[in-house]
Order: sequence, then structure tokens, then C-alpha cells
Amino acid sequence: MERTKFLLDESQLPRRWYNVRADMPNPAQPVLHPGTGEPVGPDDLAPLFPMELILQEVSEEPEVAIPDEILELYTLWRPTPLYRAHRLERAVGTRARIFYKYEGVSPPGSHKPNTAVAQAFYNKREGRTRLATETGAGQWGSALAFACKLLGLECKVYMVRISYDQKPFRRSLIETWGATVVASPSEDTQCGRATLEAYPDSPGSLGIAISEAVEDAAGRDDTAYSLGSVLNHVLLHQTVIGQEALAQMELAGAFPDVVVGCVGGGSNFAGLAFPFLREKIAGREIDVLACEPAACPTLTRGLFAYDFGDTSKLTPLVPMHTLGHDFVPAPIHAGGLRYHGVAPLISQLVRDELIRAEAYVQNDVFASAVLFAGTEGIVPAPESAHAIHGALEAARQADDAGEQRTILFNLSGHGHFDMAAYDSYFAGTLVDIALDEDEVERALRAIEGLPTPA
Ligand SMILES: Cc1ncc(COP(=O)(O)O)c(C=O)c1O
Repeated sequence: MERTKFLLDESQLPRRWYNVRADMPNPAQPVLHPGTGEPVGPDDLAPLFPMELILQEVSEEPEVAIPDEILELYTLWRPTPLYRAHRLERAVGTRARIFYKYEGVSPPGSHKPNTAVAQAFYNKREGRTRLATETGAGQWGSALAFACKLLGLECKVYMVRISYDQKPFRRSLIETWGATVVASPSEDTQCGRATLEAYPDSPGSLGIAISEAVEDAAGRDDTAYSLGSVLNHVLLHQTVIGQEALAQMELAGAFPDVVVGCVGGGSNFAGLAFPFLREKIAGREIDVLACEPAACPTLTRGLFAYDFGDTSKLTPLVPMHTLGHDFVPAPIHAGGLRYHGVAPLISQLVRDELIRAEAYVQNDVFASAVLFAGTEGIVPAPESAHAIHGALEAARQADDAGEQRTILFNLSGHGHFDMAAYDSYFAGTLVDIALDEDEVERALRAIEGLPTPA
């Protein structure tokens, strides 16, 4: 019998995070101060983030040591399992060997606590007692609530309105871990109130919720802002995923030809892919595929440009693939992928053709999710289902080319709080959004006049 699970012992937890910046052929361009157009420095960021995270944000070191206190917290759910998807392979009749790394075993159910516990730890060590954040799908909000509970910090979560309505039990989970959660746009901040006045029925977006959390943190000395994706230090913390997967693929006696992940802001994708990109940059041949929703096609249809990370233009200017900071994606069920931008490190690597991207419509993604649930058993989060779909596409392409390929994807979370989305899929009421070119052009007008990357 061929093995299904490849497991590591706690003693094999990675002791360092991997920093892809040290190996990138072209460095990511600097984040700019919107007032001066100059690169932002540590002092500009200090009101929002602890110094250790700011240093990690700009670090060029190839590896950053993980403090023992964080390693100890990681042992609550890490190392996570890596599976060979034998039953899925058989169901689709592919010659491809499909593996997946499963991050849904963490208490909040996704990869997000890999950075949440690190961020809570550094904030606490530097004297902050409260964190403010946004959440799209509710996965990040629950991960930060969980981390703050473990470390004894207060936590306020601005949850995108559409997810707040679609996923009441994510809210309950956030509250179970002692955090406060409000629907965004909310009445609690100036930018929330302004958005509600202009669009009383706004479904919200990650861009709006980020504005609210940043405004909250900037207005209080006891509070720092915490972001669940996009930033360099967040991607850095997630690299425990790919480092474990490298060791587990070795246990399986295999190495991936294709590495696949879904991309919202980019953190789970980077977490798996960056340690493999290190191998690719060193000369190994690997196809690295980022999967996104057709309703929010940041990498496949957005521009590489300087843009704000939030809707109210409170953040610095970030060099990234973007659809424009006031783009409000249609309320698809993969709430965690509804972000107008993507991590600068991923954007640069796409620009350098080390990563490629594909976009899928949600009915196709849910069909793959249901197939996966019916063969492998795990009900995937709608975000993660984009990676399943991407892996199945890669398997099909390999079969068509007459090649046997090894495919590894990141199953970033479970979908136990997303069953309303599955109900909509079964009822045939999920709409496939064909984002028209006029809307993309309109949204991109928001970045006219901003600096252009080199
Ligand atoms: C399960 C899951 N996967 C993926 C994502 C997308 O985020 P990122 O691109 O930062 O991994 C989210 C975001 O909420 C998520 O909850």
C-alpha cells in the first residue's frame, strides 16, 4: 500500500523563517510615503507596528530565527500534515501525482495563525496591549483573536460586511476567543461612517476594513495595527509551511514539478511557494502557479503599479499588482480573495516570470471543492478550493501533454464555516462574475497620477 500521510515530529519544526528577498533576481521596489514620494522609513511605520516587525519587513537576511516562545505556540498545531491525494487522483483518472499540505488543522482552521501568533508575540514584547485588524473571510480575524487570547492582548476586528452576514459563526468564534468584532464599514471610525454615508448598502471590502483598522490603531497609543497578508513580514512567517513541505516531499521520495496556491493578499501562497522558489532560483525547474478568482483578478488583469493598500488612502504606496484601491470586488464566497492588491514580493516575482497566475470562476471552483470533499474527505475553504482547481487544471494539462507530473498545492484551510456557500452552489444560485473591461479600466483610474514603479 502506498502511503497517504507524511508527518513530521515536533522536533522537526523549522527553527527559522525563510526570506525570499535575499534570493530575488530583482529586488522589490520600496514602499513610498504618499506625501513626499520618498521610501518610508522605520519611523513612519512605528505608530502602527512594533520595531521587530518593521525590521523584518526590510530585512535582506536569508533567514530569521524564530523565537522559542513562538515555536512553543506553533507546537499547538505544527508541523501540519502533507497528504498524497490518491483518491482524488483515481477519481479524475490522472497520471499526475498530487500532494497537498493541509493548514486547516490549526485551531482557527487555516494558515493564518502562523503569522498571528508571531505578530501578537512581538507586539506584546514591545508593550502594546491591543491590536486592531480587518478580516475578509473571518479566517484572519479568528486567527488573530486566537493569538491575542493566548498572549493576553485585546483585539478588535473589522469584518467585511458581506462575510459578517454570510458567516455568523466566524463571528462567534472570534468572540469565543475574547475579541470584539464589528461589520465593516462600521460606525466606529471616520472612514467607516463616510463610506456608509456614500454607500449605505456597501458589502464592504478588505480595502475599506483595512482603512478602519489603520485609523483605529493610529488613534490609540496602546494599539498596533495587524495585517494578515500582503506585507513582507507576514509572508516571511508563513514560510514554515513550505519548509515543512520540502522535508515531507523528501519523505515521500518526490519533488514537485508544479507548486500551486490560491492568492488573496498572497500569504498562504508565499508560505508554500517561497521555499520552493529558493530551489527554482538555484536552478531547479518548477512551475509555480498562483490561483485567483475571476471576480478579483489582481494578478491576471491588474496593473503593476504604486497604489494604496486601503480604500481611504491611509497606507503608504505599495508597488504591487492592483485593480485600484477603490475597486470593490463582487461579493463572491471566497471572501479572503476579495482584495484589490497583492503582496509586493509576489508581484515582483510574477513580473520576473518566476510565478505565473490563472483566474477561475466560482462555480468551477466549487465543483472541484465538492469533488475534493467527496474523495479526500476534507471540506475545503472556498479560498483554498481555488488551489484545488488549479492543481486539477495542472494535472489535466500534464495528461494532455502526455507527461507524468508531480503537483503540490496548499490546502490553506477548511470550510466548516462556509457551508452557506456550499448551499448556494448546490441551489444553483452562485453567480459567475464576468468582470468587464470597462469596470477594470474605471477602477484603475484611481491610480492615475500616483508614482510609477521603475
Ligand atoms: C483559508 C484561506 N485561504 C487563503 C486566504 C487568502 O489569503 P492569503 O492570500 O493571504 O493567503 C484566506 C484569507 O482569508 C483564507 O482564509
